[in-house]
Amino acid sequence: MLYRRLGKTTKTVSVVAMGGWSIVGDFTWGRQEKRTSLEALQTAYECGITLFDTAESYGDGLSEQLLAEALGRVREKIFIATKVLPGNFSSEKLKASCERSLKNLRTEWIDLYQLHWPNREIPLRQTLDILEELKSQGKIRHYGVSNFGLKDFSGCHQSYEIVSNQLAYNLLFRAIEFEILPFCQQAGISVLCYSPLMQGLLTGKFKTADQVPEERARTRIFSSHRRYTRHGQPGMEKEAFAAIDRLRELAEKTGYTLTEISLAWLLAQNGVTAVIVGGRNKEQILASAKAAEINISPELVSLLSETTEPLKKKLGPNPDMWQSNSRIS
Ligand SMILES: NC(=O)c1ccc[n+]([C@@H]2O[C@H](COP(=O)([O-])OP(=O)(O)OC[C@H]3O[C@@H](n4cnc5c(N)ncnc54)[C@H](OP(=O)(O)O)[C@@H]3O)[C@@H](O)[C@H]2O)c1
Repeated sequence: MLYRRLGKTTKTVSVVAMGGWSIVGDFTWGRQEKRTSLEALQTAYECGITLFDTAESYGDGLSEQLLAEALGRVREKIFIATKVLPGNFSSEKLKASCERSLKNLRTEWIDLYQLHWPNREIPLRQTLDILEELKSQGKIRHYGVSNFGLKDFSGCHQSYEIVSNQLAYNLLFRAIEFEILPFCQQAGISVLCYSPLMQGLLTGKFKTADQVPEERARTRIFSSHRRYTRHGQPGMEKEAFAAIDRLRELAEKTGYTLTEISLAWLLAQNGVTAVIVGGRNKEQILASAKAAEINISPELVSLLSETTEPLKKKLGPNPDMWQSNSRIS
């Protein structure tokens, strides 16, 4: 495993991080056995993964509880990142959310407390002042944001130590390259990439768009004819699956798996600190962790970029994976 520095802190985190959403098994991901989730978390730790991302909203606290159960005994060796929902940014609610997460996580401190999405009603400064207070009390060690565009920062990155921005980023969804990624890089804010495998599409397990279950076909890649989309756009299923075929060919030619080159490509992008993989069992975690060990050539990085450039142009700079009226600005 490789480790990179988080923001401007002195802390390092594993470049492959484990995500805590799909291990709860919900509407999007379907059924999940508890012991499979615990085993996945344990395997992640054994592979050298130190960064564990979760949220108060994943399974309504269940994801945080699973993390505590699986890895509570090695608490000091792991770096826990959890998130608070924008509806809980008022002073009272934010403090209550933090207490609830601490309780779920059975810990005395949260290593990275992240604002899950921007809140347009409450000035960011006000929320950051409360995070500063929680930091001074030792309840959180660092704070970061998620799904924040340039305007969402309201200039606060200059006076507050916002260490990270968690964003959707993968070979099929490259919106943050237009503006946010260069901005964060320049400001010394770590970009943590979520959905690095585009919710499983970049593992190659789906050969056509029709094979993707409706519950998972909600992003802007998919046509608005899909039952659970809410973007109202035609999507780009044809282009995305043609790109996946080409990426699969490139992977086969170089002797890597599609999963490996997809994650390695992300880790080769300037400004990226870690990829948060959503492995839901031991095998998936082992497969994804391997990506940290491979070093793909600059030529292959360019070829992969070229392959999905038309898709990037068509999707445009909106970094919201699900909505056309972006919640990120
Ligand atoms: N900040 C935010 O707003 C936000 C939003 C989304 C996610 N996140 C975070 O990012 C994490 C990852 O996002 P994601 O779950 O969308 O990530 P992802 O890694 O792109 O997709 C995860 C899914 O892909 C499949 N998969 C993963 N690794 C695989 C492998 N090696 N082989 C085969 N299939 C594999 C699994 O589904 P199947 O086995 O069911 O196919 C898995 O549930 C989340 O857990 C969460 O912590 C944050």
